[in-house]
Amino acid sequence: MAATCASLTIAAMNTSTLTSASRALPRIAVLATGGTIAGAAPDATNTSGYQAGVVGVGQLLAAVPSLASVANVQAEQVASVDSKDMALALWVTLAQRVNTLLDRDEIDGIVITHGTDTLEETAYLLHLTVKSDKPVVLTAAMRPSSALSADGPLNLLNAVTVAGKDEARGQGVLVAFNNRIHSARDVVKTSTYAVDAFHSPEIGALGWVQDGRVEFQRGVVRPHTNASPFAIGSVASAWPLVEIVGSYAGASRVAVDALVAAGVKGIVVAGTGNGSIHATVQTALAEAAAKGVAIVRSSRVGSGHVMRNGAASDDALGFITAGALNPYKARVLLMLALASGQATPVALQQVFDTY
Ligand code: SIN
Repeated sequence: MAATCASLTIAAMNTSTLTSASRALPRIAVLATGGTIAGAAPDATNTSGYQAGVVGVGQLLAAVPSLASVANVQAEQVASVDSKDMALALWVTLAQRVNTLLDRDEIDGIVITHGTDTLEETAYLLHLTVKSDKPVVLTAAMRPSSALSADGPLNLLNAVTVAGKDEARGQGVLVAFNNRIHSARDVVKTSTYAVDAFHSPEIGALGWVQDGRVEFQRGVVRPHTNASPFAIGSVASAWPLVEIVGSYAGASRVAVDALVAAGVKGIVVAGTGNGSIHATVQTALAEAAAKGVAIVRSSRVGSGHVMRNGAASDDALGFITAGALNPYKARVLLMLALASGQATPVALQQVFDTY
């Protein structure tokens, strides 16, 4: 779906009618991209048979009148997609729009409403390509806007609250969901239905937001945003083809061979355990690595990290390990690294060890 950038200023928060009290409020741009938070079902008890991304950003904001006491909000409808259909071109549009807005003195922070399905990928991409210390906070919902006890309105209020706080500056891209604040690098979706659907396995959340109060309990250690060398411009016109394959009982080499024949530049393996790979697939991947395809070992387990030379002889095979990144985030980093000109396994391992 083509991205659009319709912009509106919410009437109650129109900057031309600011009171002296509201003038002190942070100025937050809300960029809407679709998702269940903008979903609608035929009735209020339906939380699975709905259409994502059909409710406009004006309506989302109107459902949360208390936003007016938290921030001066301006809103844009960047897209209206089910995030399972997130496209690379839309990532570019979104990242460029975020960078453009954050360059402006009159914007203090950004909130992005997104579908939950690929939120962690978009968040990590922005974590590495936004060039600002100002807060960028993604949020979403597990229940459509039409549902009984819809979780979107409170998640949106909390995200705007976090984006307006000085403590959120310099923390990289954040995800505010179900009262918790997560780093984009760590957070993953862990439930198909529960409203407590996002966690940061192993490391835990950065902090929490509740009733207007925001508290960070730890910081983000790895470099991001301004300290990241990656730029959205480097991938804007040519994303390197990077795909994900799995390792499982009885796996064959068909997928790897097909990808190599298609000219893939990188393959991330969702391996078993510590990124271990079925011998048949590993042979195919070693042959691909010898032809110059970047091979990254990650794990399908869902938490923990993949240690170098733990389950395979990475040095001998020319493989790279993903550390704590899951396969989907490892793919994001590998695309950015390849686009920035990193090519050797040694250089790529350095990237994975750093970002
Ligand atoms: C989506 O990811 O756009 C749909 C699912 C959701 O937001 O929970």
